Amino acid sequence: MSQEVVDPGRRTWIGIAAGAGAVGAVATAVPFVSSFAPSERAKAAGAAVEVDISTLQPGEMATVEWRGKPVWILRRTPEQLTGLKKVEANLADPNSQRKPDELTPEYARNEHRSIKPELLVAVGICSHLGCSPTAKLQAGAQPSLPEDWQGGFFCPCHGSTFDLAGRVYKNVPAPDNLEIPPHMYLSDSKLLIGEDKKA
Ligand code: FES
Repeated sequence: MSQEVVDPGRRTWIGIAAGAGAVGAVATAVPFVSSFAPSERAKAAGAAVEVDISTLQPGEMATVEWRGKPVWILRRTPEQLTGLKKVEANLADPNSQRKPDELTPEYARNEHRSIKPELLVAVGICSHLGCSPTAKLQAGAQPSLPEDWQGGFFCPCHGSTFDLAGRVYKNVPAPDNLEIPPHMYLSDSKLLIGEDKKA
């Protein structure tokens, strides 16, 4: 399995939200699959989405839909976690201090912006004008990306870049980090997006 599971034009939308308690299955990338059809009832209700992350391997990313928005789930490798430190000086808000109540729940206000260090859960919508950035998970020099790229996300609309914690780079059009949605783990393999309190 290659490290970069999602790439432009091959974004895999997965997840099944057929009502309360529905389980969204995490799948690895299936080229050219781009359909996603949550039930109208679930969409209208903004229902929380339960996702099985047991098959998500290090370096792989899945996308599920929650409230009509793409939510990325990335299981970062140890190297990718190390890379978060390396880019801090290039970031506009490395400590998630801007709009914390809106963008970063308290449990994600840490160096990896997540509950579990390896698992990033972020809304894949650019804070500039709302495009969905493209995953550029592979580290190394690439066109349109900053030098010493450690992996991250690139918004093709106006060139904003984000690191693998969804933190925005300095001097790009996007003003803020990507949103971390409310979420919680129901077990080691079950993630619930949209709720962060136990019933
Ligand atoms: S919408 Fe992402 S850079 Fe403009």
